[in-house]
Amino acid sequence: MTLELRELHPTFAAEAGPLDLRDIESEEVLESIREGMDRYAVLVFRDQRLSNEEQLAFATRLDGELHRKTGSAVLQKSRFGDEALTDVSNVGPDGGLLESESRKRLYSLANRLWHTDASFQDPRGRYSMLAALVVPEVAADTEFADMRTAWDTLPEATKASLEGLRVHHSIAYSRQTLGFEFSEEERDRLKGAVHPLVLTNPRNGRRSLYLASHASRILDRPVPDGRLLLRDLVEHATRPELVYRHSWRNGDFVIWDNRATMHRARPFEDTAHRREMRRVTTLDVGDPARVAQPA
Ligand code: OGA
Ligand code: MN
Repeated sequence: MTLELRELHPTFAAEAGPLDLRDIESEEVLESIREGMDRYAVLVFRDQRLSNEEQLAFATRLDGELHRKTGSAVLQKSRFGDEALTDVSNVGPDGGLLESESRKRLYSLANRLWHTDASFQDPRGRYSMLAALVVPEVAADTEFADMRTAWDTLPEATKASLEGLRVHHSIAYSRQTLGFEFSEEERDRLKGAVHPLVLTNPRNGRRSLYLASHASRILDRPVPDGRLLLRDLVEHATRPELVYRHSWRNGDFVIWDNRATMHRARPFEDTAHRREMRRVTTLDVGDPARVAQPA
């Protein structure tokens, strides 16, 4: 079977079919998915039913190494038994809805800030794959912002001024902006990482702004100047015409490129409606086509 793509937005994001991702072993088909990612940065697969193990196996086949140094692992162990499987649900270990004051809930509220996954680590995140297991009846959408068009639409003089800038990303920083508090020991384990403000996809040469609510400062600027610049750039990158809003259906499996997009969860009444999602994120190491070749 070959991959078919249908555009969801004028500049990025496509619906992908008709593949069952559990069965994809062919390097040719995997490469067509990577090419689709290079072109669209967000791919929406419908009606997928991957188990935990199948999601891990698919992510490894597609893109090589998995991200396990998650922020939530510092708070508590993944209820799925492998830190590569991030629980993006509003339910606790007993299966009940998280209460409004639950620490896990307060921590995950920061998903409502524009961010990229694992930018606070080195190596940073490359692809994220989020499986919708239980979708509420009320809207509980996710928005994606096209960071390549954000770069492309900057004035040339601004682009020149941004080249070479280095940004510190910290998950402790993004949580603190919402008043979430970490213990000293947790803070020690969340030191953050430094990445360029402008990234280039080595496979197609496309450039993108690499921003996130985790971006705490620009190393090459005084802290307030850097923070103001980061805010301006986020504002520029999240103009409505650069945003695709995804309304989830059960069985959706969405892959996004964290180098080329930001995303955020939209608010809903999360203490009243169950929403269960499971994410695997790969690391931005090597060339995916080569990394993912079986050993
Ligand atoms: C994520 C994330 C947003 C959402 O899984 O990384 O930010 O809407 N999810 O759940
Ligand atoms: Mn996220």
